[in-house]
Amino acid sequence: MSTSDLIVHVELGSRSYDIRIGDGCLADAGEQLPRWLGAEPNLLRILIVTDSAVQVPHAETVSEQLRKAGAEVKTCSIPSGEKSKSFQQAQELYDALVEMAADRRTVVVAVGGGVVGDLAGFVAATYARGLRFVQMPTTLLAMVDSSVGGKTGINHVRGKNLIGAFHQPSGVLIDSRTLATLPDREYRSGLAEVVKYGVILDYDFFCFLENHVDALNERRSDVLRRVIARSCQLKAAVVQKDEFETTGLRAVLNYGHTFAHAFEALAGYGALLHGEAVSIGMVCASRLAEKLNRISSEDTRRQTCLLQALRLPVDVPAEIGTQHEEIVRCMMLDKKTEGRELRFVLPSCIGHVETVKGVPSALAIECLESSK
Ligand SMILES: NC(=O)c1ccc[n+]([C@@H]2O[C@H](COP(=O)([O-])OP(=O)(O)OC[C@H]3O[C@@H](n4cnc5c(N)ncnc54)[C@H](O)[C@@H]3O)[C@@H](O)[C@H]2O)c1
Ligand SMILES: [Zn+2]
Repeated sequence: MSTSDLIVHVELGSRSYDIRIGDGCLADAGEQLPRWLGAEPNLLRILIVTDSAVQVPHAETVSEQLRKAGAEVKTCSIPSGEKSKSFQQAQELYDALVEMAADRRTVVVAVGGGVVGDLAGFVAATYARGLRFVQMPTTLLAMVDSSVGGKTGINHVRGKNLIGAFHQPSGVLIDSRTLATLPDREYRSGLAEVVKYGVILDYDFFCFLENHVDALNERRSDVLRRVIARSCQLKAAVVQKDEFETTGLRAVLNYGHTFAHAFEALAGYGALLHGEAVSIGMVCASRLAEKLNRISSEDTRRQTCLLQALRLPVDVPAEIGTQHEEIVRCMMLDKKTEGRELRFVLPSCIGHVETVKGVPSALAIECLESSK
């Protein structure tokens, strides 16, 4: 292991595991996996799940290294994109596991973004009542968000992530080098979630991001590793306190998301990436906090400036901004609403948020427009 690698330990009793963040560490998969799994490499049977954009640049490195170490490896590549979080793709992976006569020694390894991680994790959680699972996230969003916390799942035609299970991985191997091939919009979309962690939990981290905008825009690997590690630590700290989403503590992670889910639903498929919607949603939520006298306009300004400097959108697209009734309807459907009242996660300063109930919908609508 290189000395520049960072380790984040996720403490969940018997389900604890490590996240290792390195530069080029996928090449160590052949040594790292046997260590995490406590098994000789030649006894490991592995199903790698990846997608069509990730297979050649990254998943093949992993399969080569595991084979070299002596493991038996099979790879399944799914079409890239959200549509693959489906019953049909899950079925194909179950078929692959049956074909390889998978047993308790079999390990599912996800090499890809959140789609691959959620689908592969769900299949691992459910096949034979649970196979061991390792994540190797290759999008910034998957590195800082979806691969931490143990949520896995697929979509139902009536709703996203409706079918799922909590299933913690045995380890998460994050190679910052894989980000070199990630399309620009996908990369920036992940940065929105990174900024979110600063606003909800860590003022110093927010300042660090402000001071490293150029490095982030240039995807400088050393800065990225630090940023990924801190984001994982912050998410892990929340998950440790609310592993199964029962105490409400995990809700802080939804800052900006009540607005964002409405924008995503109304923009139509693919028009706004999740992180882009979250970026706009955080600015709206901070304005709402201002209107409720919970935060200063200076703190909203700082968030807006940082998001803009990271080349993320901060304004509600004109065609959505006028659909007031639709926006309120979507926000009411959001899982954080209780009865007919709107609920938001709102900052009281950079580094701290609270859940606020009973927000009048008219006030939320006023926040769609910038006051400049
Ligand atoms: N489980 C959780 O806690 C959790 C949290 C947040 C999001 N999610 C889920 O994550 C999914 C979104 O994840 P995502 O944003 O990673 O999307 P994604 O997996 O669709 O990846 C985005 C795009 O980038 C491509 N790609 C991935 N890595 C690449 C690389 N290194 N180089 C080139 N191309 C690459 C993919 O093929 C895809 O086209 C959603 O389904 C969402 O529900 C889950
Ligand atoms: Zn999100």
